Amino acid sequence: MRIAVVGLGTVGRHVVEALDGERELFRSRLGEDVEVSRILVRDQHKQRPVGMQSRITFVAEDILGDPDIEIVVELVGGFEPARSLIEAALRAGKSVVTANKEVVARSGPLLSLTAQPGADFLFEAAVAGGIPIIRSLQESLAGNRLKAIYGIVNGTTNYILCRMQQQGGSLEEALEEATRLGYAEAEPGDDLDAVDAVRKIAILASLAFGGWVDVDAVAKEGIRGLSELDVAEARSLGGVIKLIARAEATPDGLTLGVSPTLIPLGHPLADVQGAQNAIYVRGEPIGELIFQGPGAGGPATSSAVIGDIIDAARSRRVGGRSVALPREPAPLVPLGQHAHSYYLRLRLRDEPDALARVAQAFAAAGVALRSVRQPMHLGGPATISLVTAPTRRARLEEARLALRHSPAVLAEESLILAELDPA
Ligand code: NAP
Ligand code: HSE
Repeated sequence: MRIAVVGLGTVGRHVVEALDGERELFRSRLGEDVEVSRILVRDQHKQRPVGMQSRITFVAEDILGDPDIEIVVELVGGFEPARSLIEAALRAGKSVVTANKEVVARSGPLLSLTAQPGADFLFEAAVAGGIPIIRSLQESLAGNRLKAIYGIVNGTTNYILCRMQQQGGSLEEALEEATRLGYAEAEPGDDLDAVDAVRKIAILASLAFGGWVDVDAVAKEGIRGLSELDVAEARSLGGVIKLIARAEATPDGLTLGVSPTLIPLGHPLADVQGAQNAIYVRGEPIGELIFQGPGAGGPATSSAVIGDIIDAARSRRVGGRSVALPREPAPLVPLGQHAHSYYLRLRLRDEPDALARVAQAFAAAGVALRSVRQPMHLGGPATISLVTAPTRRARLEEARLALRHSPAVLAEESLILAELDPA
């Protein structure tokens, strides 16, 4: 079985090394050899590992036009030219394996229809790195009516938040480290601003709930605005901050969103460390399941990619199985319809009535407060942290508007969700 790998970066390199190095293992699993016969890359001046040099090409047609290549593994990233290359490979009758969440989240349904009989379009590595969540939703849990999926689906931001919590330091320093370790996207803003997490929860929700989710319709807040002060204050409040993606089926449609969330210590998600991911799935009749494991990085991601390659290779020999991706849009309900608690950090004027004015703004909007703290570690006597009682977003926005216009408030410095389940 001859295959081609497109992209020889963090993930591609691990995939080629594993396929080259474990030929016996894969032969025993598949009953024939899997050989990486071509590797397509972009930069003609980069040094490539010696054993891979002879297989390097810069011309897509060397892969697309070679009838002996049966599987194309796309590990380039970004939308174009990755999407076009996948489409061309599928049209040429090849199976395609990809780790590209952007392409799957935006063009998955059309691409899956493009696969020719006997060929697969597989993307296990696009969500949660090495965790086999896609296949679990499509196969093992297919007999369930799923109700909710939520959890940590971005390794980079989890790594950053854990590092800030355990070693202190800034978000920028932690991001540099995550990039060095191969966790971050080529455009790390996609990690920080929750774009990557939105793509992943959209893919999971589309598979779990049976309607395609438009990524642009998913509410998102990233972690860019968080500082070490919030991380320390979360700890003082008995919790940790995690970037949580959630999708829930309600009678009116799906609620979906990604936001930094204050999780109480002791909750299983609070203990998810480094670039690990963890995903809760709730459904009938299964009840609750949690999937946890390495969510980013070359080795973990290559595990999912190679699993897909073996799967695609097997199905080419014993007959293809087309993976049905829903094409109809899923009805979405704005997240604001549920009541949540929120954590806010505010910088006030250092005046005697400032706190009273803030309390008044919340009271006038009908928002009760669970906690108001003014600890010195928040950066001075005039910075406070607040946690609201569960409230609808519209009420919170009314209070925030009043605060923006209040002479007592210099700035709202952070706003994050402060509990997991809607009240
Ligand atoms: P990467 O390290 O940036 O590597 C990208 C590779 O693609 C490079 O080898 C680059 O070639 C090649 N490339 C870029 N544009 C190309 C083009 N037009 N034609 C041919 N080759 C091209 O990326 P990565 O981290 O391995 O990620 C690859 C994919 O896996 C992305 O979709 C990413 O989102 C996904 N993913 C990554 C992780 C992770 O932890 N890193 C986890 C899950 C999924 P040159 O070598 O010539 O520059
Ligand atoms: N940048 C992504 C993350 C890679 O950190 O989760 C894995 O999809």
